[in-house]
Amino acid sequence: MANLRYDDRHHGAPRLPSAFINSASLFAAIDLGLFTAVAAGAGTPAAFAAEAGISELNADRLMTMCCASGLLEWDGTVYRNAADVQRFLVEGEARYAGAWLQFMRPGWGKWGDLTELLKTDEPAQVTPRSVIDMTVESARDYHKATASVGFGAGRRFSRDVDLTGRKRMMDLGGGSGAYSIVAAQQFDGLSAVVCDLPAVVPVTREFIDEYDVADRVSAEAVDFTRDAFPTGCDVAVMASNLPMYGREVIAEVIGRAFAALEPGGEMHLVGEMLDDDRAGPADAAIWGLAETLANSTGMSHTRAECVAYFERAGFTDVTVHEFIPGVLTRVTGHKP
Ligand SMILES: C[S@@+](CC[C@H](N)C(=O)[O-])C[C@H]1O[C@@H](n2cnc3c(N)ncnc32)[C@H](O)[C@@H]1O
Repeated sequence: MANLRYDDRHHGAPRLPSAFINSASLFAAIDLGLFTAVAAGAGTPAAFAAEAGISELNADRLMTMCCASGLLEWDGTVYRNAADVQRFLVEGEARYAGAWLQFMRPGWGKWGDLTELLKTDEPAQVTPRSVIDMTVESARDYHKATASVGFGAGRRFSRDVDLTGRKRMMDLGGGSGAYSIVAAQQFDGLSAVVCDLPAVVPVTREFIDEYDVADRVSAEAVDFTRDAFPTGCDVAVMASNLPMYGREVIAEVIGRAFAALEPGGEMHLVGEMLDDDRAGPADAAIWGLAETLANSTGMSHTRAECVAYFERAGFTDVTVHEFIPGVLTRVTGHKP
């Protein structure tokens, strides 16, 4: 099985000096359509070379590397895709997640300057530049990538959390609206308002129209670091934006969500949280460190820190749940 996620604690640590070569070969393989070609039967260097328009020597090198990193498997005669590569990296398939797996690729050049970036004396920005500078066009690309995994996460959320009887959900930084759209489809009588930045809202509305839920899901321009939150909600969700902000901002947002929720309401924070021993998962550390590139206040937050934000806000019965093991954790609290 290939390691398409950064979820193994200390996975591959002895190879750290050359780990970027794994990333480079994965990206080149996606660019050249390697996994799609192999799925269609081009399982030898000669066949793939002809498909991709590269030399057989280079096809051989790339396929050998992809096999060594677990993306391909060799059966003695031909290469085949590893199970999760076949599932997520064959273009045209419903679960194709190539855009998501390349989500961090635009930072490729900047990671080479990490040492210099870590030495910056510029003050950190509350809202990351990557978010402030978003245009409707870049938001559309960004959420094409998030939606390729976000709707799966949204379905998992609606399986794990029973919102029967709930009336209205606010989805802070809801992006594609995946969590809201799935929940509104799943739970009779539930409506949702997706809150995101102005450039994202038109894109959210495109997803709302695509899923035909405009009668129950709406989108509003709300910067959750400073704008007022919707009223009349008995559920608040905030998913997959935790490491983009520092401790003060996250604590403040959770405090304001508590104030805005109806009495008896519930809040769910889904994020890339560090284990309390801080030894992983690597995903949480990577998203935190990536904020250095944006010079934001963002960082990794531990599960215990997130529980403390909830309790400080006034939430009770605060619990921690495994959500996507090794990637996302859910912290849930109730407003008395
Ligand atoms: C990685 S996406 C997650 C989207 C969605 N929650 C999901 O899980 O599929 C992060 C989202 O947070 C939004 N976001 C970041 N900062 C925000 C802010 N200050 N106010 C509102 N939305 C924000 C981004 O625009 C983006 O849509």
